Amino acid sequence: MDIVLGLQWGDEGKGKFIDLISENYDITARFNGGANAGHSIERNGKRITLKMIPSGIFMKEVQNVIGTGTVLDPVSFKKEILNLQLFDHTIQPEKNIIISKKAHLVMPTHKLLDIFMEENPEYTTIGTTKNGIAQAYSNKILRQNLRVGDIWSPDFQSRAQHILYRDYKMLEDGGMIVLPALEEISKEFFDAVDFLKKFTCTETEIYLNNALSKGKRILAEGSQATMLDIDHGTYPYVTSSSTTAAGACSGLGISPKKMGEIYGIAKAYCTRVGNGAFPTELLDEFGDDLRMKGNEFGSNTGRPRRIGWLDLPALKYAVMINGVTQLVLTKADVLNGVKSVAVCTHYELEDGSLETVSGTLSENIRPVLKWMNGWSADFVNMKSGSELPEELKEFLSFLEAALEIPVTYLSTGPGREQILKMK
Ligand code: GDP
Ligand code: IMO
Ligand code: MG
Repeated sequence: MDIVLGLQWGDEGKGKFIDLISENYDITARFNGGANAGHSIERNGKRITLKMIPSGIFMKEVQNVIGTGTVLDPVSFKKEILNLQLFDHTIQPEKNIIISKKAHLVMPTHKLLDIFMEENPEYTTIGTTKNGIAQAYSNKILRQNLRVGDIWSPDFQSRAQHILYRDYKMLEDGGMIVLPALEEISKEFFDAVDFLKKFTCTETEIYLNNALSKGKRILAEGSQATMLDIDHGTYPYVTSSSTTAAGACSGLGISPKKMGEIYGIAKAYCTRVGNGAFPTELLDEFGDDLRMKGNEFGSNTGRPRRIGWLDLPALKYAVMINGVTQLVLTKADVLNGVKSVAVCTHYELEDGSLETVSGTLSENIRPVLKWMNGWSADFVNMKSGSELPEELKEFLSFLEAALEIPVTYLSTGPGREQILKMK
């Protein structure tokens, strides 16, 4: 099994890359997260953002697994499937998607609780996507949640109604001001659950391990990214799932012994949506320009993404945590024409000491920047990595030496074909 995962704060371009390489696989499989993901894919000049559906969906021969480590919102899933069918009529989702019976359900009240907590000053404001992710995962850990497999049990309706009623009451008692009617959200939920029943829901661990035994190739698709990992990210400003390579093993039920290539994706600079430390953040006009040039607005929520220089200590940390074997660098085109580009090589801490690898970022560290010559290239007509300008070659060599892994792909635009295989 190979894995693709984000090494920064998400939105590195995982969707685009997976869509591209999924033709080499029999199965793509999501192992973490839920509808908080937004994986954009451009096909024939049209663009779609996938939330829950794995990015191999456009390959007719590829099976797409929604694995055990994920949290599935039936309402959002139904909308996503209908939208996908509008985007491409030839797709047969019921044939090409397999869902884990053990994946947990996101209830409508989880989403309302997410909004409530984000807006209530008694809680830390994370800047979530308001998809009820933390609420579904916390109920999983509390062992109070419903799973996909439960939708066929005779008491599902009453158990779900009990949870909806109980949580709704909590919101009412808490004074949530804008609260849709319980009947309305319940109906929408149960309709979506009926829709979900059209899909194959099974023990995906067994399905995937059988596939591996038969020599099939699996690509695990990470959502979010290492710096948003619940354990290894910049807690508490993180998501609530395991976003790392180890998370792929537990989220899919596949042994670490079966791991092959681990593709880590990073932008040539950094972005972050939501709150939390961001040492290399650019709060000036230049940052605003990059946001516009790179179209850095959340694929999921439309929020402007925060922009910063490439953060090497955090990237080294992510490469270490995941055992990345190949680096896929995206958005080199967004820095095209910039005279000098910076990379943060280490942090200076409050006591004056230096840190070169780190995942515990605080507001009070000073990024030490190395400035390099920028590049100017005609990426549109470029066919091979050998045509890259010297400055960009130097930038890539510098990263390879610092991270001790090869840059095997360089993405030069959002389109499918805008990528250079470097090795
Ligand atoms: P994901 O969550 O990692 O799949 O990434 P998103 O899809 O949320 O965000 C990445 C954005 O960058 C999308 O709009 C992509 O179409 C776009 N993109 C991906 N690779 C490149 C690239 O190399 N250059 C440019 N300019 N855009 C890219
Ligand atoms: P993809 O897969 C970027 C961020 C949110 C917030 C924090 C917690 O497209 O890279 P959550 O809704 O998960 O409880 O929010 O995590 N976040 C993402 N940022 N890309 C994502 O997914 C994200 N998923 C969650 O902005 O800061
Ligand atoms: Mg995204």
